[in-house]
Amino acid sequence: MKIIDLAPEHEEIYCQCLEDWSDEIREAGSHKRDWLAEAKGRGLRVKLALNETGTVAGMIQYLPIEQSPADGRGHYFILCVWVHGHKQGRGNFQKKGMGTALLQAAEADARGLGARGMAAWGVLLPFWMRASWFRKHGYKKADKLGMMALMWKPFAPDAQAPAWIRPRKKPQAEAGRVVVTGLLNGWCPAMSMVHERARRAAAELGGAVEFREIRTADRDVFLEWGISDALFVDGKEIRNGPPPKYEKIKRKIARQVRKL
Ligand SMILES: CC(C)(COP(=O)(O)OP(=O)(O)OC[C@H]1O[C@@H](n2cnc3c(N)ncnc32)[C@H](O)[C@@H]1OP(=O)(O)O)[C@@H](O)C(=O)NCCC(=O)NCCS
Repeated sequence: MKIIDLAPEHEEIYCQCLEDWSDEIREAGSHKRDWLAEAKGRGLRVKLALNETGTVAGMIQYLPIEQSPADGRGHYFILCVWVHGHKQGRGNFQKKGMGTALLQAAEADARGLGARGMAAWGVLLPFWMRASWFRKHGYKKADKLGMMALMWKPFAPDAQAPAWIRPRKKPQAEAGRVVVTGLLNGWCPAMSMVHERARRAAAELGGAVEFREIRTADRDVFLEWGISDALFVDGKEIRNGPPPKYEKIKRKIARQVRKL
């Protein structure tokens, strides 16, 4: 196994989260590619794990915490670490030490760049990106927002713990129409997929439904809302646990249309 920096020849597969076999990833559109073009200039770091035959099997992506959904100083924030675990496509590479190797490489890189610590999000339930995986690797919980823990490993003795930036504003229902609001950063294809499903459902349901896109990769926009990625139908959030299916999103919008 080898850990390498993201190179142009791997950008396409990186933007597909290594899931080039997945129709769902195609639904996510080009948001990640657009985001990547900008994030490179904002300090994004990406490392890939290659197996012995050169297949890209894992990735870790992290950026200065000042560009992340957390509030902190001089840290890097891990947006995502992912070792391909599906049988489809390139196959399951989990539990072979790749995740650990990626995390160690990212931490060494961040230390070399003078970071005061590393932060990451983790789910407090035993699925998806588990907070417990970071705990095993020496991270502590610095903050919590619902089921989302902010995990943290200080490198400097006087490093200050980061905290989540909390929601500051949410869309309101409006008379005479249904407003579907998609807040989108663009870094995560799962979120982009939900966003594009909502856009499609809103268009299909016709004139009474308005789709509004709010691009939170713009830091000022993110700070105005305090929300990086979310989908609202009128004032109500459709939770982004596992990505909701197109039919579920359409049903929720249609229910609001019937109430008009
Ligand atoms: C969390 C994750 C990155 C860990 O990657 P990984 O490569 O499986 O991790 P590791 O191999 O380093 O460690 C995992 C386990 O495998 C074990 N392991 C490591 N090398 C091993 C080997 N050669 N043989 C057997 N087991 C091994 C480790 O001891 C560890 O066990 P434990 O966690 O039960 O204690 C990976 O499981 C993953 O991608 N999960 C999904 C995360 C996700 O959803 N990310 C997207 C967020 S947007």
